[in-house]
Amino acid sequence: MAEPRRVALVTGGARGIGQGIARRLTADGWHVVTADKAAAGDPADAMRHVRTDISDEAAVRALVNGIRKEEGRLDGLVCNAGIMVRKPLRQLELADWSRVIATNLTSTYLLVRAAEDLLRAAKGAVVTMASTRARQSEPDTESYAASKGGLVALTHALAISLGPDVRVNVVSPGWINVEDSEPSARDHAQHPAGRVGRPEDIAALTAWLLGPESGFVTGAEFVSDGGMTRKMIYEE
Ligand SMILES: NC(=O)c1ccc[n+]([C@@H]2O[C@H](COP(=O)([O-])OP(=O)(O)OC[C@H]3O[C@@H](n4cnc5c(N)ncnc54)[C@H](O)[C@@H]3O)[C@@H](O)[C@H]2O)c1
Repeated sequence: MAEPRRVALVTGGARGIGQGIARRLTADGWHVVTADKAAAGDPADAMRHVRTDISDEAAVRALVNGIRKEEGRLDGLVCNAGIMVRKPLRQLELADWSRVIATNLTSTYLLVRAAEDLLRAAKGAVVTMASTRARQSEPDTESYAASKGGLVALTHALAISLGPDVRVNVVSPGWINVEDSEPSARDHAQHPAGRVGRPEDIAALTAWLLGPESGFVTGAEFVSDGGMTRKMIYEE
């Protein structure tokens, strides 16, 4: 008998990295549910799109209950949706800070909590999306850096609480080009890997982390940044 189709939920799946992940999982044979504030980026047969706000507790509960009803299972959860606010500290309102923490960090807690029973039943896997900015910063990025550092910690806490049923890992991308324009030759060349990242780079890693070949990997952080955080930069 054929294996039942695995079901994945990808937040922020309407564009950028999330869209790349949704496309890759669909190509790998998953049934993908994308959840985003925006309209669907990629209406494919193997995808269902839900327009929702993953920072809202009731909306997350409704999203997961919809999967319980429509798909009846959840094997993979990719907590990818995120936002960035760049403002000098003295202009960073508490509302800005709270919105970034709610969207990038609290949403992951809400999603995993709501989906715990489905994920345990499927012996599933979770991938969270942090950033190299969890560990290094440009000026004026306090709320984003704090949210991503929180995600790295939340991920290992979840891995310990949900094991051995569910594996939970975090991906920390460096610069991934999600714009239509091409980065400059200099932007590419400054990376030890010789180029800026693409959504496909993060999608391939995520697909592996959701799949059976990463069965001995949980609570781990995977940096995919073309080597930028390993490069010493002292100006001459
Ligand atoms: N692109 C990069 O260089 C980079 C680097 C490191 C980490 N990341 C992280 O990767 C993830 C995806 O980044 P991206 O560059 O593809 O971003 P993006 O802005 O291109 O796409 C993010 C998607 O998330 C959705 N979204 C935002 N808030 C939401 C909410 N409350 N509810 C539902 N959907 C919401 C947006 O509508 C959008 O479709 C983010 O968590 C980001 O922090 C990106």
